[in-house]
Amino acid sequence: MAKEAIKYYGVDPWKITETGFNPERGRVSESIFSLGNEYMGTRGYFDEVYSGDSLKGSYFNGVWEEKPITYFEHFKGLSERCCFMINANNWIYTRIFANGEELDLAKCRVEDFYRELDMKRGIVTRSFVWNGIKLTFERFISMTERTVAAQKITFTSVGFEGTVKIVAGSDFTPIHEEENRNFWHEVFKGDGIIAARTESSGQRIYSAYEANIKADRFFTEEKKSCAEYSFKLSNGETETFERLSVNITEKDKTVTDDDFIKNGNEKSAKLLKVSYDKYKADHEKFWSDVWNTLDITIDGDEENQQGVRFCIFNLHQTYHGEDGSLNVGAKGLTGEKYSGWTFWDSETYCLPFYMFNNPQAAKNLIMYRYNTLQQALDRAVEQDTKGACFPMVTIDGTESCGVWQHGNLEIHVTAAIAYAVWHYVTNLKDKDFLYDYGARLLVETSRYFASRGGFSPKTGEYGLYGVMGPDEFHMMVNNNTYTNYMVKKMFNYTVDVINEMKRECPEKIPQLDDGELEDWSFKADKMRINYDEETELFEQHDGYFDLPHIDINSISPDRVPIYKYWAYDSIFRVNMIKQPDVLLMLFFFSKDFTMKQKEANYDYYEARCFHESSLSPSIHSILASEIGKDEKAYEYAKYASRLDLDDYNRNTHQGLHITSCAAAWMNIVYGFGGMRSDDDILSFKPTKPVQWKGYQFKILYRGKILTVDVRGGKARFTLDGEAEPIRICGKEYSVGREGVEVEI
Ligand code: BGC
Repeated sequence: MAKEAIKYYGVDPWKITETGFNPERGRVSESIFSLGNEYMGTRGYFDEVYSGDSLKGSYFNGVWEEKPITYFEHFKGLSERCCFMINANNWIYTRIFANGEELDLAKCRVEDFYRELDMKRGIVTRSFVWNGIKLTFERFISMTERTVAAQKITFTSVGFEGTVKIVAGSDFTPIHEEENRNFWHEVFKGDGIIAARTESSGQRIYSAYEANIKADRFFTEEKKSCAEYSFKLSNGETETFERLSVNITEKDKTVTDDDFIKNGNEKSAKLLKVSYDKYKADHEKFWSDVWNTLDITIDGDEENQQGVRFCIFNLHQTYHGEDGSLNVGAKGLTGEKYSGWTFWDSETYCLPFYMFNNPQAAKNLIMYRYNTLQQALDRAVEQDTKGACFPMVTIDGTESCGVWQHGNLEIHVTAAIAYAVWHYVTNLKDKDFLYDYGARLLVETSRYFASRGGFSPKTGEYGLYGVMGPDEFHMMVNNNTYTNYMVKKMFNYTVDVINEMKRECPEKIPQLDDGELEDWSFKADKMRINYDEETELFEQHDGYFDLPHIDINSISPDRVPIYKYWAYDSIFRVNMIKQPDVLLMLFFFSKDFTMKQKEANYDYYEARCFHESSLSPSIHSILASEIGKDEKAYEYAKYASRLDLDDYNRNTHQGLHITSCAAAWMNIVYGFGGMRSDDDILSFKPTKPVQWKGYQFKILYRGKILTVDVRGGKARFTLDGEAEPIRICGKEYSVGREGVEVEI
């Protein structure tokens, strides 16, 4: 895989550090030093004015604007409206003056610039010396009180004599870069308060702040509420400026502006009474609990250690399941690219991380789909189908994809919702969830696939025609094997669940039409799965084996992304694939396939995969581990864990690849740890890269912490509670506190 690392940040197991400011990496660093807490997120841009290149992005999960999608011709069923998460208020807005001169790193000379993200504590700090003052900045976005964000600036004079002035406030003027405009309209502003509303979606944010220093004056400008603070500073003296910011979103349009302001005033008054130090202590405790219980440690490979912690850190920052109306955007809350949209990544790549780290978050990821079921039912009608057709990309549950080839053809997204129900229930045994919510999702998705497919007049097989599988380099294909297999499995699962409910809770069975269950079973039996007995290869879709071959190694690494350099339709005419497709099926339903099938298909498809999606390397690494290709497994793993830190795809400036952070976590646990979660009990078959002395990971299993420690040719499993059955290297053990050790 021709991708090169850019080594820029300092390597440390717990920190990401930057020594000396390099404006050319400014936007990448803004992404890397992003902070968030599921509810809000802020890129690592400077607090103070910076006139150089920067994306001052501050986002609120699920706060969006909308625009029409226009086409030359109106075709029925194409999405016509796109929602996108918008850049919101710059809550950390600050200007700093020393004896009248304004600090601006694009213009001023500073020395000893240093910045760090401390993942152990969830805190970003930055320091440098300017004008005889050592400035140290600290910020965090509270993980325990989601509306609170905090800023602290320490000024120590190292020769400076005079007056420091700070202007700080909340600023609704930032431009949403992708649309090159601002979407906010003022609702109210006053001393230390400002509230604004989005232009057409009518969502509101109330923002209030308070500092430890008494303001000289408060003032307002258009879409901005500010306060001015000043103090004298002499050589050797230190002054500290601390500011708490409370930001409250209101998405309910029926709440009047008066009530919205009143609620904001009451809530922020209470929240601003609590001290900076108290919020900081609670926030740090949140992070120490995370790391004390569910860390991954790697001995002998600091780069991967740092990389995997960075991924875990960002997954917790992006989502921790407080709110079932929110989801994980592919770039989280770290940039505008991908518009804050949720993809099928949530159900396929992110769900396992949350299932085994934070079950409440896992459940809420699926609840998000349940809560947007009506939009999926409506979309199915637009598509001349029945049941629920879930969107390819979305914020509010409607389809926001303006590229119809993806939005209309990637129907595997709907199968992923049913798969998520199955995967979650198989592992967490949450029958209440299954009967109350999951069953409805299963019925509506089965209904959709039963109406979306058709029978081949030649063979009588059932199939899904005119689709795009996970591999986005082949469009409008027939019978994508991954999708067909998923749907076959989910038809059968739905029928099994309904039959179980007939015994357990008939009153909860979702409404079914006569003969539907029989129809789904029949279609599952008749589903076409293209398989060649002789070679043991699954054909990615009808006719894939006939496509002209292209040697992926002949493509110059600087001609990427492919979409930018290749004529659009030329991408679809060869057998090069963008990301795992058949291989994903072999991983998701691991126990259904033999080792020989895995080997044959890995060899065949790996040679044809260009890894244009960041979701690709980790799946290859996981399968490579399983079939004993250890070098390949290690090579692919490093792309996954350090994708953004080393800017492998040259697009980290646009935001972090949050969903591939989940893939990087899977890479350790499912890859080297050899975990599989597609059976009634968990199974493991650990391997250890020779480059590592050892490694350890912990997961939450049936409410207890399972620790897997691999070193010295042995793997040790311990569970911190009553023993549970676990399959290790093919044999079932009862693993409890005393542990089980096996040779690997
Ligand atoms: C991939 C999709 C994925 C999306 C968001 C695309 O490049 O092809 O499978 O859902 O990125 O991560």
